[in-house]
Amino acid sequence: MYYTYYFSSMAKQIPPIITFLSLLILLFMIPITTGTKKSSYGVRSYHNSLKLFVFGDSYVDTGNFLNSPSYKPPYGITFPHQPSGRFSDGRVLTDYIAWSLNIKSPAPYSLRNSSELQYGINFAYGGTGVFNTFLKGPNMSIQIDKFEELIKQNIYSKSDIDSSVALVSSAGNDYFQYLFIDGRNIKDILDFGASLINQLSLNLKRIHSVGIKKITVGLLQPIGCLPVITTPSSFAKCNETLNMLVTKHNELLLKTVQDLNKESGSVIVTLDFYKSFLSVIETMQKKHDVANVLQPCCVPESSIYQCGSVDERGEKKYSLCDKPELSFFWDDFHPSQNGWDAVYKMVQNPLLQI
Ligand SMILES: *[C@@H]1O[C@H](CO)[C@@H](O)[C@H](O)[C@H]1NC(C)=O
Ligand SMILES: *[C@@H]1O[C@H](CO)[C@@H](O)[C@H](O)[C@H]1NC(C)=O
Ligand SMILES: *[C@@H]1O[C@H](CO)[C@@H](O)[C@H](O)[C@H]1NC(C)=O
Repeated sequence: MYYTYYFSSMAKQIPPIITFLSLLILLFMIPITTGTKKSSYGVRSYHNSLKLFVFGDSYVDTGNFLNSPSYKPPYGITFPHQPSGRFSDGRVLTDYIAWSLNIKSPAPYSLRNSSELQYGINFAYGGTGVFNTFLKGPNMSIQIDKFEELIKQNIYSKSDIDSSVALVSSAGNDYFQYLFIDGRNIKDILDFGASLINQLSLNLKRIHSVGIKKITVGLLQPIGCLPVITTPSSFAKCNETLNMLVTKHNELLLKTVQDLNKESGSVIVTLDFYKSFLSVIETMQKKHDVANVLQPCCVPESSIYQCGSVDERGEKKYSLCDKPELSFFWDDFHPSQNGWDAVYKMVQNPLLQI
């Protein structure tokens, strides 16, 4: 996920959106498009440790989106106590999955030159989708291209890859692009969803054909409950129309994964973010630790700002809750570390049971 940018400004005022957009586009044209034609990694190879390769969006990005708000305060205040490129106050899903595999969180691809690659590489990039999104980050196909380029350079051995795990997140940016940026009609969305899952399935096949046998892929979270959607109702309730759409998406994805497992001998397991998000939200609401679980910890002052915005004088244009450790959502789109922790505990890592 990661559409905070335009989304928060969507409600009002066209001009700021446009300025913001052009600024963003300028910013994001710069990084990462040229890959790694020549080996820049020397001859070192990284053996003897299970490796995790990560593809997708901001739910799993741990630092690829340089210059994004995730590299600015207050992101990272809980962990690692400073902004680290994670779209949360602390750890994100990748960190929990890596922890369950007994390895360190893999290095972000953008930081590869200065990082240990022995635990794998994180290619995920905030704001991206299976298809292109307006934020212009590398879509999932491009992320897999980069992975293939690296594999061709033999920095990992075949047996390394054989024992590796992939984590894939496709948490809805494609739907946000379709509905709210492109302004397409929701009645055609099932067709769009089918083409989305078709492409996602091709992506999973590619990851498998490189040699990764175990792949874990997230089902779509209840998008209708994200703060960016519930803001107009003062976080009173989830949008059931959107959640219904998510249910359909997930049914199709589950079916597709079953078919893939039958035909290709891959082991693709799913993490049910739909059920787990809803269940955690419900449980937390009952505990009454916070007034409203649907309200994020970091709230922009108005719709032209976002979490992390400051004005020309450096004044914060957002407010923070007192206790991020009690929140479920951190910002308009993303769970807090507390949220991820609780969700992770519900889904665990099904790969460990195989
Ligand atoms: C990594 O290093 C190579 C050569 O040493 C350079 O061409 C490349 O741009 C660097 N990548 C990043 C992201 O700094
Ligand atoms: C991914 O991005 C590249 C570069 O913009 C584009 O050519 C390709 O069509 C995109 N892939 C998908 C599946 O949309
Ligand atoms: C739910 O979201 C859909 C799609 O954006 C929108 O058309 C609908 O009005 C929303 N429903 C409510 C109750 O806000």
